[in-house]
Amino acid sequence: MESSLRVPDILIRKRDGLALSPGQMRHIVLGYSQGDVPDYQMSAFLMAVTLRGLSQEETIELTRCMIDSGQTVTFPNLGRPTVDKHSTGGVGDKTTLVLAPLLASLGLAVPKLSGRGLGHTGGTLDKLESIPGFRTNLTLEEFHTVVSEIGVAIMGAAAELVPADQKMYALRDVTGTVDSPALIASSIMSKKLAIVTDALVLDVKVGQGAFFATVDAASEFAKTAQAISNAFGRRTAFVLTDMEQPLGFAVGNALEVREAIETVHGHGPSDLLDVCAVLALQLMQSIMPQVSVEEARDRIRRAIQSGDALRTFCTWIAHQGGDPDIVNKQDGLPWSRRQETVRSTQSGYVTGINCRSLGHIAQVLGAGRTRKEDTVDPAAGLVLHVKHGSRVQVGDDLATLHTNLIGSLDKSREALLDAIQIAGEIPAERPIILGVIENKDSDP
Ligand code: URA
Repeated sequence: MESSLRVPDILIRKRDGLALSPGQMRHIVLGYSQGDVPDYQMSAFLMAVTLRGLSQEETIELTRCMIDSGQTVTFPNLGRPTVDKHSTGGVGDKTTLVLAPLLASLGLAVPKLSGRGLGHTGGTLDKLESIPGFRTNLTLEEFHTVVSEIGVAIMGAAAELVPADQKMYALRDVTGTVDSPALIASSIMSKKLAIVTDALVLDVKVGQGAFFATVDAASEFAKTAQAISNAFGRRTAFVLTDMEQPLGFAVGNALEVREAIETVHGHGPSDLLDVCAVLALQLMQSIMPQVSVEEARDRIRRAIQSGDALRTFCTWIAHQGGDPDIVNKQDGLPWSRRQETVRSTQSGYVTGINCRSLGHIAQVLGAGRTRKEDTVDPAAGLVLHVKHGSRVQVGDDLATLHTNLIGSLDKSREALLDAIQIAGEIPAERPIILGVIENKDSDP
């Protein structure tokens, strides 16, 4: 007999820790997405899931329902394999800006949806919009056209895709139900699976600046996400990367675009380059298993050194309305009116950089949002002059703050000194890559 489809019965079942049937999951999720289930019932559902958890089967079913709430997008007849990448969010994470044109220059197609920053983390759309003229609000038709012409396009989440997640995420934000492993995995994977690509890689950030504070929590997430992707027959690899300090040196939109351009040129920070290379390698191995790891690494290196990746970057920027000349002009991207370098008051080694605090400082300087409706200042942010393990003397530069907001420098100076720990002993080295879970054969 089909279990009860009355919403109060579904809520009681989950409240008591019992499994929901696929029909019950569909009833509540699609009912909410279509406006038949009110916010108060969905809030109770989300809280029950957060407290009681979901089984793997329920998590897969929830993901399926969320995808079915909207359209899926496919790219038939492109003539190139399609790949996608997702990061669980961090500070200074400009990986997509480097990786997307790099992969396109290697003959892959990268149709990617990205998000905006909120709180201490940045968002790729905000970074791209710091490029004069760049449009992220493409229609799905324009998205298809740009991908088929040049192999890469990035746009914001379309209303037609996974509308259930858009509504549920907004509710989770205000009901204390963001931190549920099952809800996080289904939310992320539903959006990735709604864009049908041949291979996917997830950059799972680990540390106090990230969603997952420990390698164990990140691995647990990766296991659930892999089970979901296998159920949908999607090849997905996971790379666990360190977020105990920002990636690269720049935090803030235009500042990060500048650093990404340096990296596409081959002159960027080594941690950023390493993460991009490992993510690219995982995708190439999923798509071209016949190519050896050495050959794949070599192709990645050559794409950067030959200038192919940079040429693709410029073509892509131009196709989405941006000014490709930003790669040549010092003032092609906005600069803030006020800049101040904060100097060390101690001597020793940098033993810790509090990523979350740096994200908040960038936000105070104008680079981030407190509420979804806030606008961001494309020029604001900060550029570190040190990394974990750097040796510093009193008076050495620690970071330069960039802002247009009067008064924000006063609030940020002390916070920056607090965020960078300096001690007498050389700290142990921090690897940037903390683990790789290779794509396993999917089981459609
Ligand atoms: N990012 C998402 O898209 N969803 C979550 O639930 C968490 C992070």
